[in-house]
Amino acid sequence: MTMLHQFVDLEALSRAAATLFAEQARAAVTSRGRFSVLLAGGETPRRTYELLAEEPLRSAIPWDRIYFFWGDERCVSAKDPKRNEGMVRRALLDHLQIQPEQVHPIRSALAPEQAAADYDAELHRFFVSSPPRFDLAFLGLGTDGHTASLLPGSAALEEKVRWTAVTRRHKEPFSRVTLTAPLLNQAALVVFLVTGRDKAGVLQSILTPASDHPAFPAQLIRPLTGALHWYVDRQAASLLTGGHAAF
Ligand code: 6PG
Repeated sequence: MTMLHQFVDLEALSRAAATLFAEQARAAVTSRGRFSVLLAGGETPRRTYELLAEEPLRSAIPWDRIYFFWGDERCVSAKDPKRNEGMVRRALLDHLQIQPEQVHPIRSALAPEQAAADYDAELHRFFVSSPPRFDLAFLGLGTDGHTASLLPGSAALEEKVRWTAVTRRHKEPFSRVTLTAPLLNQAALVVFLVTGRDKAGVLQSILTPASDHPAFPAQLIRPLTGALHWYVDRQAASLLTGGHAAF
């Protein structure tokens, strides 16, 4: 099931995404004793993470039963501001009292292939039963239609088995480690967070595809049994026609 939710701006979208996180976390912990969440990098989700660390949501979430993973990471030094882990720690994790074993960053200080293999092993350890089913996966969308670090033209788009891969953007001086579509599509709930007029064209192309063939990496994200929701702001939705669930 795919649902499109339109919000007036980034703040409204972030409040809704943070509230969804809280609701899903409480439900998962109540029914299964833990909540596994996949975090997106980039800029869009930052405000969502910040809101989770603030009242009223902060005290409404069972933080001690939540396990944090990343959808991708740039292979740069730990202190590099481009790291997705650092953004999440500054916006959310540093403000919480949680145990180190709840946080599963991609160890991208390792050589890229080693970091990918290391994360694959960590995922297998955490999700003892296979396949791994994240309770919630936040994803972003690039203007070129990438998500996580599933970049246009990368071999990772063809991956049908492995849960992690190494990608590299042309002219970018670092590699990336990304989760792959076969893994992401196991999630119970995938939520894309997309804002800004610069995403309007690619969002329209993705949501109103000319053919069934995925023209963009983000179109590979089709949860096998889970739900797919698009949280978009008015600017990103500006080229979409027709009504959808609006907030
Ligand atoms: C990354 C992100 C990437 C991001 C999109 C959108 O490491 O680059 O994981 O997939 O979500 O590029 O980024 P913005 O939210 O900054 O537009």
